[in-house]
Amino acid sequence: MVSLTILASFFVASFPGLTASINITDIQGPAFQSPFAGQTLQNITGVVSAKTTNSFWLAGPASSDIRASHGIRVFTSSKTILGNVTVGDAISLSARVAEFRSSSDPNDLFGTELDSPTNITHLSTNNTITPIVLGVDRSPPTQAYSALDTGPDGWLNVPGNVSLIERTNATLVPAKYGLDFWESLEGTLVTVPQPVSLEFPNSFGEFWVRGKWHVTGLNSRGGLSITIGPDNVPDANPETVIIGAPLDGTKNPNVALGTTLSDITGVVLFQFGFFYILPTTAPTVLTSPNFTVPPTTLKAEKNVCVITIGDYNIENMAPTSPSLPIVAGQIVSHLLTPDIVFLQEIQDNSGPTNDGTVSANVTLSTMANAIFNASGNATEYSWLDIDPVDGQDGGQPGGNIRQAYLYNPKKFSLVPNSTAGGSLDATKAIIGKHGHVELTFNPGRIDPNNTAWASSRKPLVAHWETPSGHRFFTINHHGTAKSGSSSTEGDARPPVNLLVDQRTAQVTEIANFVESILHLDPFAAVIVAGDFNEFAQTRSVFRPLAPLMFEADVVAGITPVERYTYVFDQNCEQLDHIFVSPAVAVGGVEVEHVHVNNWGPTLDGRASDHDPSVARVRVC
Ligand SMILES: *[C@@H]1O[C@H](CO)[C@@H](O)[C@H](O)[C@H]1NC(C)=O
Ligand SMILES: *[C@@H]1O[C@H](CO)[C@@H](O)[C@H](O)[C@H]1NC(C)=O
Ligand SMILES: *[C@@H]1O[C@H](CO)[C@@H](O)[C@H](O)[C@H]1NC(C)=O
Ligand SMILES: *[C@@H]1O[C@H](CO)[C@@H](O)[C@H](O)[C@H]1NC(C)=O
Ligand SMILES: *[C@@H]1O[C@H](CO)[C@@H](O)[C@H](O)[C@H]1NC(C)=O
Ligand SMILES: *[C@@H]1O[C@H](CO)[C@@H](O)[C@H](O)[C@H]1NC(C)=O
Ligand SMILES: *[C@@H]1O[C@H](CO)[C@@H](O)[C@H](O)[C@H]1NC(C)=O
Ligand SMILES: *[C@@H]1O[C@H](CO)[C@@H](O)[C@H](O)[C@H]1NC(C)=O
Ligand SMILES: *[C@@H]1O[C@H](CO)[C@@H](O)[C@H](O)[C@H]1NC(C)=O
Ligand SMILES: *[C@@H]1O[C@H](CO)[C@@H](O)[C@H](O)[C@H]1NC(C)=O
Ligand SMILES: *[C@@H]1O[C@H](CO)[C@@H](O)[C@H](O)[C@H]1NC(C)=O
Ligand SMILES: *[C@@H]1O[C@H](CO)[C@@H](O)[C@H](O)[C@H]1NC(C)=O
Repeated sequence: MVSLTILASFFVASFPGLTASINITDIQGPAFQSPFAGQTLQNITGVVSAKTTNSFWLAGPASSDIRASHGIRVFTSSKTILGNVTVGDAISLSARVAEFRSSSDPNDLFGTELDSPTNITHLSTNNTITPIVLGVDRSPPTQAYSALDTGPDGWLNVPGNVSLIERTNATLVPAKYGLDFWESLEGTLVTVPQPVSLEFPNSFGEFWVRGKWHVTGLNSRGGLSITIGPDNVPDANPETVIIGAPLDGTKNPNVALGTTLSDITGVVLFQFGFFYILPTTAPTVLTSPNFTVPPTTLKAEKNVCVITIGDYNIENMAPTSPSLPIVAGQIVSHLLTPDIVFLQEIQDNSGPTNDGTVSANVTLSTMANAIFNASGNATEYSWLDIDPVDGQDGGQPGGNIRQAYLYNPKKFSLVPNSTAGGSLDATKAIIGKHGHVELTFNPGRIDPNNTAWASSRKPLVAHWETPSGHRFFTINHHGTAKSGSSSTEGDARPPVNLLVDQRTAQVTEIANFVESILHLDPFAAVIVAGDFNEFAQTRSVFRPLAPLMFEADVVAGITPVERYTYVFDQNCEQLDHIFVSPAVAVGGVEVEHVHVNNWGPTLDGRASDHDPSVARVRVC
């Protein structure tokens, strides 16, 4: 491989006149923005390194200052100009230096580019461009995105948008910060050796990869999980990059989490919120992971004191959803029909039709029947939910999503003589007439009028009794969604975690409720589970629960990189959580995340965007 030094000397040797001209490294400079932004420069020289329908890229001599990229995009809609430049041509041109946003999103980083090229002179043809081989010539940092992600939770620190990359325009520290690293390669031709896909492609055929370089958070499937770094700050996995549409018009292959691909060579470009590599041509798939997902090993037991728990967000489930029989089959074949299943996103009987329907008894009985059939009539679940007030709990309009329980009535049932709560009733823990802790409404909702639950789901609380007379509490939670959060690679630092304050308030309300139970009975068995819509590493959100409960994954000793139930962009992440009270934790907790959806072959083949989890605990 030709080194960058050789490339540089090649330039100087071949074009003695070049020293009088301006180098691309000077235009790019050592900071996020160009020192020449807005200026028209003459005699910019470089070799055409890549080309597409509205741009070509130039490579100049590299500088010893790795902060200054030696590549740049030349934007032009002129077919004449594009028709007259060929990869390998050494040219000189005049152009205006622009700091450009690829979309109307003001949170995008600027890209330094050359606009309105004129006076294009061909100096020679058929020059060789040597890409920077990532992992060999330069390697991305693996922990932090930006020096501006300050605070104990780093990129997940709250509040976000305390500072802006482009306003700060710091000089780059590519060895330490991911955004600085990718910015220092903006416009250059790079090679990703031995790429591994970190997710399914999006609807544009784009997908995240890591290459053959040092990574952190690597899980057994080949993905990268969000973890806490050795510096006790959440690790942002900046050593990843999105592969965009190939420049030559070929189509990227279908990929899945863990697919390996042929080497990718392309140019680095910030667009649509992220640093991309636009490959010169589409890579090919080398290997696919094993798409046969093993079932949980956590089987239900005869012992009435030992219960298995399923937890599954089944994504806008209506009676007619095509995914309903698939989910029912998964609950049988992969979750092994747990004694109780905490479901989230059960829609009302009319699904997303906005007709005032709030009851979900058809949705839930259809699900229970489908499971009965899938289990060969072996499992006959009962179910339990509380209808929301129409249109008050967020989610898909008209769907009235809510949490629900499926449970095996042979294993346990609601505490006898309970009074079910309605949508607007707040259940409370009290000492009942037999001296036990009881709920005023069972099942019930936690303080449904509290602003913490505005336009969001209210937790579903239940109090159960085993045939042996032992009792336990469950709380099924579905936190406000993160959608609308700003890009992990955007201008706002730390990134904006939308509605994180509401999610924190929700966890606080749940913690207060659990505390009200434990205050009356410190040995009460309490299980809180569901889709919290937040990562464990956003520690500020979970702080209220920390003194009261234990996260099941931690008690069970699940390796941190295997704690995930969701895959989004470059990260395998844990949005779904199970927490247990001390009395449950001491009895031992087992947990498995069953990747029936995110280990599958295609995005469309998933039954839900979340993976389910199974736990086994003692409640007596
Ligand atoms: C361009 O870069 C080359 C190689 O680093 C260097 O020798 C030359 O002085 C630079 N020219 C300018 C105008 O900076
Ligand atoms: C950004 O920083 C570079 C290098 O320090 C400087 O030349 C340029 O003028 C700065 N641009 C802005 C808009 O601050
Ligand atoms: C650009 O190159 C031309 C031809 O070599 C020269 O006459 C002119 O002075 C150069 N312009 C600048 C700004 O260096
Ligand atoms: C392409 O460039 C050559 C050399 O500069 C010039 O003679 C020719 O007219 C150009 N062709 C077009 C289509 O612009
Ligand atoms: C193009 O080159 C000519 C001759 O060197 C020069 O007079 C003119 O200013 C240049 N135009 C631009 C936009 O640089
Ligand atoms: C370009 O270089 C290759 C060898 O690197 C040679 O085979 C080819 O003939 C050259 N083409 C032109 C147009 O000079
Ligand atoms: C961040 O704050 C700035 C004001 O300082 C505002 O203009 C921008 O829209 C905010 N960005 C996000 C993503 O909220
Ligand atoms: C794929 O995984 C399944 C489930 O773990 C296993 O039974 C099977 O042997 C695996 N197939 C291969 C080819 O490794
Ligand atoms: C649903 O509830 C309605 C009203 O209580 C009842 O008429 C209907 O039979 C129920 N359907 C199912 C499938 O349970
Ligand atoms: C399951 O039960 C249904 C009636 O509810 C019956 O028709 C069917 O034959 C049973 N299937 C099996 C496998 O037992
Ligand atoms: C439930 O209520 C019935 C009638 O009100 C009563 O006979 C029974 O003892 C109660 N059971 C319990 C466990 O409180
Ligand atoms: C919630 O507000 C409604 C009126 O909007 C009221 O009827 C209900 O009693 C309130 N619930 C509680 C627990 O205060």
